[in-house]
Amino acid sequence: MPIATPTETSVRAAPAPPPKYHEPVQGTVFHGDGREEDLLRHLRSLPSLSPSETSGLSLRDRSQRVLNAIHEFGKGENRYLMSVGETKGRQVEDLVRSKKPKLILELGSYVGYSGISFSRHLPELYHSSTFPRDWSAAPTSQDRAGYISLEKSEVYAETAAGAVELAGLDKVVKIVVGSSTTSIKSLRKTLDMPRPMKFDMVFLDHLKPLYTIDLKVLEEEGLVGRGTVLVADNVVKPGNPAYLSWVRATPAQKRQALNLGPLSTQPQLTPNPSSDDEWLTAFRDGPIDETRWVPPEAEGVTSKGDPSLIYESQMLDGWDESQMLDGWDPYTGEKDACEVSTCVGREE
Ligand SMILES: C[S@@+](CC[C@H](N)C(=O)[O-])C[C@H]1O[C@@H](n2cnc3c(N)ncnc32)[C@H](O)[C@@H]1O
Repeated sequence: MPIATPTETSVRAAPAPPPKYHEPVQGTVFHGDGREEDLLRHLRSLPSLSPSETSGLSLRDRSQRVLNAIHEFGKGENRYLMSVGETKGRQVEDLVRSKKPKLILELGSYVGYSGISFSRHLPELYHSSTFPRDWSAAPTSQDRAGYISLEKSEVYAETAAGAVELAGLDKVVKIVVGSSTTSIKSLRKTLDMPRPMKFDMVFLDHLKPLYTIDLKVLEEEGLVGRGTVLVADNVVKPGNPAYLSWVRATPAQKRQALNLGPLSTQPQLTPNPSSDDEWLTAFRDGPIDETRWVPPEAEGVTSKGDPSLIYESQMLDGWDESQMLDGWDPYTGEKDACEVSTCVGREE
């Protein structure tokens, strides 16, 4: 069943692809060489982002200045940034405005670009709610709204926190440093989230082989459920057949794979479809077997997930219905897309 996207996004034409600022980065150093620390220093040095310049701006304008400055920085030599970017980012922003999630979880903060883009809508949507910085003072857990972002690297988390602060969103965004799979296991405790509280939206954008196990842990912990919208980035570039097969499978297919138990070695990975128009229907019948393998980065955590959950899942095609893959990497111009999976209930 098609995902309801806002009318305005389904009628407007797709934007032009961005210019190519960098060659495709796979196999080259593209992060962790000091550029993230440089970015934070750069942002803090910009007069246009100083408090005296931004204090009178609306949250939208102030945050947009920071997003623009991050993007400009990323155009420089050896400064590619693995951010979601503008085309896919704006599609997800539209989804935030239409679905109105109150609690959003992000896997992979990096330098904060997606966190700033998506979280900036929460204060407008939930102006009378309490945000993470003040959660302990919220009268009840129902009064809470916020954006929780998990990041493994302390360095990237520091840059993200600095950028979020410059954007005026530090009370809205809480960054949890640590490896995602273990962080998710203890997230209810970390955030003091009583059951049946769960996330309304999850943005998966960290290590690609972790998407499936981390979703299973979220399912098992009851942190996702009916009504949760999952948005998974990079399902075309580099692709994620195992994850797509889990969110596109029926409960029976998922149970069958789980009954076979985990795989002890990594199976050969299924390639992406060879043509663009196969993406919408691909992976509805596997490779579900690949979901039985858990990568070492999960640090020994295993999970059966909740195979009874039913998702309606398809690629986000927000700009122009005649084009399926209408997102781009912001710097290399490679085609990419997010998969959007709405949990519509459970099969008992
Ligand atoms: C593609 S970047 C995220 C980009 C960001 N969401 C944006 O669009 O601005 C992936 C991030 O995931 C982080 N990461 C990788 N493995 C992780 C793990 N196991 N747990 C948490 N974060 C992880 C990386 O350090 C990196 O910052």
